[in-house]
Amino acid sequence: MNDTKTALVTGANKGIGFAIAQGLGAIGLTVAVGARDDVRREEAVEKLRAAGIAAFGVALDVTSGESVAAAVATVEQAAGRLDVLVNNAGISGRTDGGAQDPTTLDLDVVRTVVDTNVFGVVRVTNAMLPLLCRADSPRIVNVSSNMGSLTLQTGPIMAAYAPSKSMLNSITAQYARRLSDTNVIVNACCPGYVATDFTGFNAPRTPQQGAAIAIRLATLPDDGPRGGFFDDEGVVPW
Ligand SMILES: NC(=O)c1ccc[n+]([C@@H]2O[C@H](COP(=O)([O-])OP(=O)(O)OC[C@H]3O[C@@H](n4cnc5c(N)ncnc54)[C@H](OP(=O)(O)O)[C@@H]3O)[C@@H](O)[C@H]2O)c1
Repeated sequence: MNDTKTALVTGANKGIGFAIAQGLGAIGLTVAVGARDDVRREEAVEKLRAAGIAAFGVALDVTSGESVAAAVATVEQAAGRLDVLVNNAGISGRTDGGAQDPTTLDLDVVRTVVDTNVFGVVRVTNAMLPLLCRADSPRIVNVSSNMGSLTLQTGPIMAAYAPSKSMLNSITAQYARRLSDTNVIVNACCPGYVATDFTGFNAPRTPQQGAAIAIRLATLPDDGPRGGFFDDEGVVPW
């Protein structure tokens, strides 16, 4: 089997996803840059290549089954298998007009957020599983948030975004149980509060700091933890 591992990062054109791509590329993985916008994707690929990283673009909108199917074909053609999948793409959803106040919750916002943050992960994961199963030590990392932790209940009240991450955590556990007798290791992570477009660049951590836990889980040894939720400090309570 070809020694060079390939990692697909969704939403890799900017923010934490770009930093995850950079970090995995820097330790020698070939990076498949999943991004929905052609220009932003190609700019990210060029930036990574300029830093000496082996990268290729994968057109990918996680809300579209067609786009996801085409992405599988792109990865298969370029790499033949997939070693690492980082489901990073995510949205916060609109908050204006009480859209994420539970007492005035806009269910269209909930649908949109869940379609990206949860169904998007399921679409991409299930479509990529056959390619992941061709790898010796496949890893799946779901980028969640401690806002989805029912124990911590941290951050602002956001009744679409926070529950989407609770559901992502729960589905991560279901995947880990289903894949427990395989070599596919699945975990969720929280990047912390990171300065990106997502937070209006008004947060203390850098994208590189936010990316570190995802990179660690993407490169776990074969006896690494399964079905957990982790940040830089260790286990995050569900
Ligand atoms: N920033 C934080 O403090 C923080 C904290 C906890 C968790 N997180 C999580 O970390 C992840 C990355 O967030 P970030 O802060 O890096 O946000 P960001 O800078 O807004 O980046 C989000 C990425 O997701 C992509 N994306 C959104 N919808 C997509 C779709 N339908 N298909 C494909 N890509 C899509 C975006 O692409 P476009 O450029 O095309 O929009 C962008 O590349 C998210 O899952 C978020 O929930 C962030």
